[in-house]
Amino acid sequence: MFTRSLNHFYALALITFALFGYHTVLAQDTTEQTQQSLYLRLGGLAPISVVVNDFIDILVPDAVLNANPAIDAARKRVPPAYLKYHVTAMVCQASGGPCLYQGRGMKEAHISLNITELEWNRMTTLFKEVLAQHKVPEKETQELLEIIGSTKADIVAAP
Ligand code: HEM
Repeated sequence: MFTRSLNHFYALALITFALFGYHTVLAQDTTEQTQQSLYLRLGGLAPISVVVNDFIDILVPDAVLNANPAIDAARKRVPPAYLKYHVTAMVCQASGGPCLYQGRGMKEAHISLNITELEWNRMTTLFKEVLAQHKVPEKETQELLEIIGSTKADIVAAP
C-alpha cells in the first residue's frame, strides 16, 4: 500500500516537472537568446571584420562618393586598411563586443569631407548590400543600421 502511494507520488512529481519544469527551461532558453549581444549574434569578431572589409572595399572606389572632391582626396590619402581596422573596432564595441574603439570622434573625422545627405544614403545602400551578401538576418541588419544611423548627425555636414 505504502509502496503504491509512493509510486503515485513519483508519477505525480514527474508529470508536474514535465508540465512546468520543461516550460521553465524553455523560457530560460528564449530569454538567453533575446539577451545575447548583437556581437555574439553576428558571430563575433571574425565575421564582423569580414563584413567591414567588404564594405570598405566597395565604399572606397565608389564613383558617387568620389564625385565629392574632399572624399576623393581623403580616400587617396588614407589607407583602406586603417579604415577597416577602426570601423571593425567601432562595430565590435558598439555591438557589445570586447573591442575598444580608439580612433577619432565621428565629427572630427568627417567634418572636412562635407558629406551630403545623398552621399550618406549612398553609403547606407552599399552597407545594406554587403549585409545582404553575407546573409545577415533582418533583426541584426536593423540593429546595425541603428548603430550606423546614430552617427549621422555628426557625419552629414550638408543637406
Ligand atoms: C557617406 C558616409 C561616409 C564617408 C564618405 C566616409 C569617409 C571617410 C573617410 C574618407 C575617412 C578618412 C578621413 C581622414 O582621415 O581624413 C573616414 C574616417 C572614418 N570613418 Fe567614415 N565615412 C562615412 C561614414 C562613416 C560611418 C557611418 C562610420 C561609422 C559608423 C564611419 C567611421 C569612420 C571611422 C571610424 C574613421 C576613422 C577615424 C579616425 O581616423 O580616427 N564613417 N571616413
